[in-house]
Amino acid sequence: MPVDMRTYLGHVELVNPITTAAGCAASGAELAQFFDLGRIGALTTRSITMAPRAGRPTPRMAETPSGMLNAVGLQGPGVDAFLERELPWLAQRSVRTVVSIGGGTVAEYTALARRLTDAPGVTAVEVNLSCPNIEDRGRVFARDGAASAEVIASVRSVMRYDVPVVAKLSPDVPDIVSVARACVDGGADALSMINNPLGMSIDTETMRPALAAVTGGLSGPAVRPLAVRCVWQVHAALPSVPIIGMGGVLTGRDAFELILAGACVVAVGTALFHDPYACMRILRELEELLAARGFNRLADAVGLAHRPPGASTRHRTDLEESSL
Ligand SMILES: Cc1cc2nc3c(=O)[nH]c(=O)nc-3n(C[C@H](O)[C@H](O)[C@H](O)COP(=O)(O)O)c2cc1C
Repeated sequence: MPVDMRTYLGHVELVNPITTAAGCAASGAELAQFFDLGRIGALTTRSITMAPRAGRPTPRMAETPSGMLNAVGLQGPGVDAFLERELPWLAQRSVRTVVSIGGGTVAEYTALARRLTDAPGVTAVEVNLSCPNIEDRGRVFARDGAASAEVIASVRSVMRYDVPVVAKLSPDVPDIVSVARACVDGGADALSMINNPLGMSIDTETMRPALAAVTGGLSGPAVRPLAVRCVWQVHAALPSVPIIGMGGVLTGRDAFELILAGACVVAVGTALFHDPYACMRILRELEELLAARGFNRLADAVGLAHRPPGASTRHRTDLEESSL
């Protein structure tokens, strides 16, 4: 019997738990030549900004032993072009679209949300909180629970009630649970984690930093244990809040690990750079793995690792009740 792979982001049903990670598939058009985007749970766009952005100077990418460093700096055409061209292209193809937004002030995030609120084809909005707050000496929003909550509350207040608002968290904080809780208290319907932790590498030939921006975001298998830890801690504290888990997912097994930790949706990022079919492959591998372990429904595996060894599976509704 096929496994029921449906999952929920707030009240929104997704046909399966696989999405792209923000910034790793632009707005989907490039991936569409490899597979039908409607076959994955959702497509998450790069972070959309108010104005077009050229991004940071090159070099912006550097290889690391088990992942990569990037300092792309939210390159993109800005919200006008997104609404004119990219979102209608996705909507025509009935692609469930999670629109990521990035800003430098609370007002900018709010203005973006206002532009998106009546746009057809927005399945959810993911708020990229790993942006420098220009009103607070460039301190990244995600490092401060109060600043994150302020952004989320403002976005939630202008966003259509039936569009879930997802807060995307950074692992570069001493206590991710307190930031997660602040975002949920601010009105986040779901959380996603992890954005890239900050890293750096030095080219030993030139004897200078490998990236023009000096530091950059680390991604790929190197960060997976960090992602598993963050999802685990947040799910333990807030078991009824849907989590989009991401960080170094290359295989169905990796996706399963994040699901066992508490994610109900899994995003694929860096893997797409060397395998454009990664989402479909990971979905197939995950389904096979669930079937081989006797699961009838994906939902029964969400957060299962939190149960004592030998305990039977339980349903998501049980998880929700346990948080009351
Ligand atoms: C090249 C690149 C660009 C990214 N751009 C964004 C972005 O625009 N917005 C965002 O929230 N995260 C961005 N991310 C972070 C990813 O969405 C994801 O959180 C992170 O890379 C961990 O997943 P992975 O190891 O599967 O790549 C980017 C990551 C990479 C590698």
